[in-house]
Amino acid sequence: MARPSGKQKSTKLVVVCVVLLGFGLIGDYLWASSPHFASSSYISNWVSPNNPQSNVIIPKQEPHLADTKPLKIKVDGVHDRSLSATFADLPAPELKWEKMANAPVPRLDGAAIQIKDLLYVFAGYGTIDFVHSHVDIYNFTGNTWGGRFDMPKEMAHSHLGMVTDGRYIYVVTGQHGPQCRGPTARNFVLDTKTRKWQDLLPLPAPRYAPATQLWRGRLHVMGGSKENRHTPALEHWSIAVKDGKALEKEWRTEIQIPRGGPHRACVVVNDKLLIIGGQEGDFMAKPGSPIFKCSRRNEIVYDEVHMLDDEMKWKPLPPMLKPDSHIEFAWTIVNNSIVIAGGTTEKHPITKKMVLVGEVFQFNLDTSVWNLCLSCASKLVWNQGLVAVLVYSPRQFT
Ligand SMILES: *[C@@H]1O[C@H](CO)[C@@H](O)[C@H](O)[C@H]1NC(C)=O
Ligand SMILES: *[C@@H]1O[C@H](CO)[C@@H](O)[C@H](O)[C@H]1NC(C)=O
Repeated sequence: MARPSGKQKSTKLVVVCVVLLGFGLIGDYLWASSPHFASSSYISNWVSPNNPQSNVIIPKQEPHLADTKPLKIKVDGVHDRSLSATFADLPAPELKWEKMANAPVPRLDGAAIQIKDLLYVFAGYGTIDFVHSHVDIYNFTGNTWGGRFDMPKEMAHSHLGMVTDGRYIYVVTGQHGPQCRGPTARNFVLDTKTRKWQDLLPLPAPRYAPATQLWRGRLHVMGGSKENRHTPALEHWSIAVKDGKALEKEWRTEIQIPRGGPHRACVVVNDKLLIIGGQEGDFMAKPGSPIFKCSRRNEIVYDEVHMLDDEMKWKPLPPMLKPDSHIEFAWTIVNNSIVIAGGTTEKHPITKKMVLVGEVFQFNLDTSVWNLCLSCASKLVWNQGLVAVLVYSPRQFT
């Protein structure tokens, strides 16, 4: 992909929002790295929902390069070994980032959908013990946030599946409540014109963060984690939908996906359905904990890409440049490429901390080649710390 000339606005990558590094680091150190996940230091260090401005940290460097302090680690009690926290970064030119308006609240594991000039941002953890139950809207032209409204009480607060047809936003299952509480099978539809919610036929079973897409008039839901939050689900269901309503009385069983588990990107492009990255395994509720306290379990992050086409058979495509998860709301289509920003990759081999992805990846659909993205997007929106939300503003290329 050619680089636009220097004077064009399109050479800029624009960071809209909040928590960016602050959130990323807090998440990295206190959320993901804590074996207990919800230590009191984690909670006290979390951005206060009532004081969202208080914890915004603006990176002086490119976000993923900011934390480069080498970690001294005793190996075998004899030798010190140094390993940069960003040891897994792939070499790439530095991208220029521009700070945009802060989001009203920080969110982890929420969801976001762009419709034209507006980005609808849903739910998410504010702290490990507090989940949001509302929608905030970002306006790209105005660089402003506004239009907050409530979600239905029964709607999940994190790990949602979500997709839009350009007016209606389909919201599928997810986790209801804070910590590592159980999932719901309930689904909802938001009419973005009227901002009214409707029910949609529940899934055959609840799921965490299933891959969700609209394809050929049907809402497809596949993978995710099962009710215990950890066990990967392979089931794939679909239902015919139109204008926010189901046209059928039950979900149809479709071909299973090759990999279950949550946090996979799911993209429909050129009439093909692609699933990208994701993971198997996730935090689980501690057995018997009355607050469903999260406890860490093994996770495997994937770089795999699979495609479903006319034959309704999964076909492997070239893998990503590194394993990448938490990317379900972090992709966009630019110039016949899928562009994916950020995510999480395999944990640090020594500290076992979660490692955030700083790269922007580009999968060229003409050549089926993955590259690091140099100038393929005009606007990047980082919205949820671990989950980057990427949007493209065609206006910027004119
Ligand atoms: C889109 O792709 C074409 C062909 O690869 C390239 O010439 C053009 O510069 C790209 N446009 C943008 C905005 O990246
Ligand atoms: C977005 O903001 C611009 C500039 O303030 C405004 O003119 C426009 O109406 C807004 N768009 C929507 C859809 O609200």
